[in-house]
Amino acid sequence: MPGLRAPSDYSREPPRHPSLVINSKEPFNAEPPRSALVLSYVTPVDLFYKRSHGPIPLVDDLDSYYVTIHGLIESPKKISMRDLWALPKYNVTATLQCAGNRRTAMSKVRKVRGVGWDISAIGNAVWGGAKLADVLELVGVPKLTSVTRSGGKHVEFVSVDRCKEENGGPYKASIPLCQATNPEADVLLAYEMNGETLNRDHGYPLRVVVPGVIGARSVKWLDSINIIAEECQGFFMQKDYKMFPPSVDWDNIDWSTRKPQMDFPVQCAICSLEDVNAIQPGKVKVSGYAASGGGRGIERVDISIDGGKNWVEVYRYQKDGIPYDSSDICSDKWAWVLFEATVDIPHNTEIVAKAVDTAANVQPENVETIWNLRGILNTSWHRVQVRVGHSKM
Ligand code: MTE
Repeated sequence: MPGLRAPSDYSREPPRHPSLVINSKEPFNAEPPRSALVLSYVTPVDLFYKRSHGPIPLVDDLDSYYVTIHGLIESPKKISMRDLWALPKYNVTATLQCAGNRRTAMSKVRKVRGVGWDISAIGNAVWGGAKLADVLELVGVPKLTSVTRSGGKHVEFVSVDRCKEENGGPYKASIPLCQATNPEADVLLAYEMNGETLNRDHGYPLRVVVPGVIGARSVKWLDSINIIAEECQGFFMQKDYKMFPPSVDWDNIDWSTRKPQMDFPVQCAICSLEDVNAIQPGKVKVSGYAASGGGRGIERVDISIDGGKNWVEVYRYQKDGIPYDSSDICSDKWAWVLFEATVDIPHNTEIVAKAVDTAANVQPENVETIWNLRGILNTSWHRVQVRVGHSKM
């Protein structure tokens, strides 16, 4: 790979925020404290969760860096960063969520395999870059193409990093060609995050961003794009990130029975409180995030202060001080909404949050019904305990 340093040079780890909770050092996986997520609508880069499957590669010579686009197309090409910068630049505000977000809670019900994540393997960023639909036009694939003349139906992204799940080969994933060539799907080859050059942890110099889809498909450190007939056969598409029912375990799994997970389901979590909280009686702030996949907005966020018996709808926003309206064309369709409420808590209780998206999908009540052996897509109602102390003045 041109412009890529040898792995022996990777030892220079990128600088990272001290408050990140490190879930695994090698490969590097970290998430911010929950409370950091609700400090701003756009998550600062240094507090954005970092998820990798291998050593973080170091591409340091942009002049010799290019992305090869090949496969079932008439005119394969090497695209340089200059070619990308010359295309129209789009800024897309999109939430990225790891399918393993909230895995730790799922594992408490019955053990699952995978990196343990609390509720912060999610973040919202403004991604800047070229639309994949425009890039594919450079190699002769018109907008809104579902199949190329030579039978290409999927777009595979192959990365620079190497991981053990691929037996030392590159991380890869694919999306359907019809999504890649649809400008409305806003799939980006991003070189910026929140107005800054993409940093090494997040895929420098170039990554894919597939809005509304689990983070695993937003391939970082892009090396090549392959137009293929069937979806990518890589590990993370075929032997991981698939949603199985609770009856399937490691002794009876048949990976071929399920499709790779793409859109993420409706999700919400309370970020202003930990799993268990000691408080004084009185007012408590309940704030958090809600998001759904596929460009579906959030219709409602409900919270309960009696363990899920009674519910109230809470205030939601994307821009400070402006109530969120999913049907407003100014709302960011690929982005989370934040919610907040102040509630009176006189005694010990369980506070619960659940969201409803614009397709009326609602989060499941219990984790047991969606338990799956890899611990993905824990979207069950988010519950936190409050213990009220009565200190004497
Ligand atoms: N791309 C490469 N090349 N290697 C990876 O390990 N991890 C994926 C995806 N893209 C990964 C990757 C997963 S599982 C997620 S959730 C997102 O990147 C995380 O992106 P972030 O680290 O920028 O938050």
